[in-house]
Amino acid sequence: MLIKKLASALAAVTLLALPLAVLANEGSYPHAENDSRNTASLQRGARNFMNYCSGCHSAKFVRYNRVATDLHIPESELQKNLMFTSDKPFDTIKSAMLADDAKKWFGTVPPDMSLMARSRGTDYIYAYLRSFYRDPSRPTGANNTVLPGTAMPHVLADLQGVQRAVYKATEGEAGKGEFEKFELVDKGSLTPAQYDEFVRDTVNFLQYIGEPIENTRKDLGIWVLLFLLMFTSFAYMLYKEYWKDVH
Ligand code: HEC
Repeated sequence: MLIKKLASALAAVTLLALPLAVLANEGSYPHAENDSRNTASLQRGARNFMNYCSGCHSAKFVRYNRVATDLHIPESELQKNLMFTSDKPFDTIKSAMLADDAKKWFGTVPPDMSLMARSRGTDYIYAYLRSFYRDPSRPTGANNTVLPGTAMPHVLADLQGVQRAVYKATEGEAGKGEFEKFELVDKGSLTPAQYDEFVRDTVNFLQYIGEPIENTRKDLGIWVLLFLLMFTSFAYMLYKEYWKDVH
């Protein structure tokens, strides 16, 4: 009886979850395949973020010393190599750029990164950072297939190199056909595989700052569920015991 009920509850949950999963997958990008339990990757991601992103993007809900503690970065290392916009470990990560200047230069203020991985998804950011291509018609000289007309310059061009977008030739039609692939025209200092790793680490760090407690929460969740399961079976046995004389 109980098993049957459990099975139908499980089926109902699965049925409900399926359309959600399909929805979430819409506009799907290749998986970033980042691992938020990989501390070495997160440390590299922190370094990448501080060096290549924090000049424009803040992470105003994140404190330096929290990052140092969680990622096992000694405070001296933190001060020397990761803190460019402040010298107080208790500070939050601010961008070096003033909002007014940013408006003047980019026409928009670079968004705060604290919750970016949660609002856009890690796969999206992974795709975005790998999809800049040369476009002389843009003020920054670069465009992006994931966010066409983006105001963000290709700040990682030195590492990735510069790529060209190749479109499928559509016969008889004016204009560009469907996007087909990227072609590297200028090599960067990293190989394509190394660049993917660089972006994966960066995205990993963005996922971490989006919810620093995520892994602890998941670990704890398993114990809570185990406890509830155990408790339910005891409660059920007790119920049987109480009612056995009544039935
Ligand atoms: C030179 C300044 C600058 C730097 C450095 C920079 N960005 Fe940006 N970024 C911008 C601007 C400007 C926008 C707003 C783009 C828009 O709305 O078109 C933006 C937008 C974004 C977005 C949001 C895209 C969206 O869908 O709205 C993400 C994600 C992002 N940046 C990630 C990064 C990461 C990660 C780095 C570091 C590797 C980085 N940026 C470095 C200027 C910068």
